[in-house]
Amino acid sequence: MQRELASMLHQKSRLAALGLAVSKINHDLRNLLASAQLFSDQLSTLPDPKVQRFAPKLMRTLERAIAFCQSTLSYGAAQEPPPERKTLEVGPLIEEVHEALGLSLDVPIRWIISVERGLTVEADHDQLFRVLVNVARNAVQALEARGARDPARDQIRITGRRAGSVVVIEVSDTGPGVSEKARTHMFQAFQGSTRSGGAGLGLAIADELVRAHGGDIRLVPGTIGATFSITIPDRAVDLNSRRGERVRA
Ligand SMILES: Nc1ncnc2c1ncn2[C@@H]1O[C@H](COP(=O)(O)OP(=O)(O)O)[C@@H](O)[C@H]1O
Ligand SMILES: [Mg+2]
Repeated sequence: MQRELASMLHQKSRLAALGLAVSKINHDLRNLLASAQLFSDQLSTLPDPKVQRFAPKLMRTLERAIAFCQSTLSYGAAQEPPPERKTLEVGPLIEEVHEALGLSLDVPIRWIISVERGLTVEADHDQLFRVLVNVARNAVQALEARGARDPARDQIRITGRRAGSVVVIEVSDTGPGVSEKARTHMFQAFQGSTRSGGAGLGLAIADELVRAHGGDIRLVPGTIGATFSITIPDRAVDLNSRRGERVRA
């Protein structure tokens, strides 16, 4: 019990120190991103078709990064702001995740999407995007660590479906699976990483963001490789506002 307490305190002080560091990094990072935005603005005036194709994506990514820094700064160092939920389409979101991973054509990983046509989810776009990027990037890293070389074997599959009032998104890979060691503390900050250079924050962040939506993320047992299942329930219907509507109608 004493050891547990000591370890908890250690983690808390580490989090506090990290919080301060994050605020400082955040502050200056925002300035750098704003400069990068000015440069890419200039770039987008070039007629080269490749530049024309990528400049808007670069701009959008930078905008998103700036907004992210801004929201972290304004909300406080170590906590996520509450989700701003809207109805959004899952298919295009997954396409954005794919782009953000920057899987170039020479990486022999097959990316398979199987999402119900027109599937929508009620979620904070940027937060769900971060959840999926974190989970999908782990999958890429797991495949790369094993030496991905054959798209018939090295695959990442994203499925999306609705089950009643809940949307289920699954990210599966055909890598080595999550080791016993990583499994125990996978969703705890700083505890779960088995990668050299890994911070062990990705899944902790994903877990926090998904839970803020009232959903959950877990490892599906007994699959080949690793499958993470993310559930996002619809927002609760506000009965009072519904009643109001009916009275007004
Ligand atoms: N798809 C996966 N396949 C195998 N192991 C995984 C997978 N996703 C996560 N893990 C394990 O969980 C650990 C924690 O992941 P994460 O929280 O993202 O931290 P990091 O990526 O910084 O190590 C990883 O170090 C890895 O051991
Ligand atoms: Mg990670």
